[in-house]
Amino acid sequence: MKFFVDTADVEAIRELHELGFVDGVTTNPSLILKSGRDILEVTKEICDLIPGPVSAEVTATDADEMLTEGRKLAEIASNIAVKVPLTWAGLKTCKTLSDEGRMVNVTLCFSANQALLAAKAGATFISPFIGRLDDINLDGMELIADIRTIYDNYGFDTEILAASIRTVNHVTESARIGADVITAPPGVLKKLADHPLTDKGLEAFLADWAKTGQKIV
Ligand code: E4P
Repeated sequence: MKFFVDTADVEAIRELHELGFVDGVTTNPSLILKSGRDILEVTKEICDLIPGPVSAEVTATDADEMLTEGRKLAEIASNIAVKVPLTWAGLKTCKTLSDEGRMVNVTLCFSANQALLAAKAGATFISPFIGRLDDINLDGMELIADIRTIYDNYGFDTEILAASIRTVNHVTESARIGADVITAPPGVLKKLADHPLTDKGLEAFLADWAKTGQKIV
């Protein structure tokens, strides 16, 4: 399973990258706003740091304008995945960009049928939003499982990029179901290492070690 970081905060990406578990990055207009940076500048900086796919999202709603924006974003670096919304204009743009050999991430997916359309339009990634479905009392994990079944039934090679991940359990469940990628905020990725029994065990080992009076180096 690949780990993407869902942020436009370059320092946060760098910190996780140094640990070796950043396979890619996803951004969106809200994350660009949060970063306070220019989209083209910050995306270039991220692409220079991370060799894996870096998603940058178009903001036009009309297919022609979306295509122009997508091509401009794709020029930033060869590892750009152009992110388009799951609308008819987005699907049309996805088909054209994917025919041109560019990576496309179809975002804002909330149903299995939408995911089916994205795969047929040649999407490299489909981004089902788990947390936002949970927010309205629907089951985000059920959507991931449905898409996995459908893509496997027909051999689609579009990668399932589980997005809108809010908890460590979303990561575990996505891995159990077989999502190809998860994208999560840095805070959630960091929490994956936490366990109270690890802390408690370490504390006991260190207390006993201090009593031995020994040193390793
Ligand atoms: C994914 O590509 C999106 O940027 C992201 O996961 C959205 O998450 P949110 O619903 O927590 O904003």
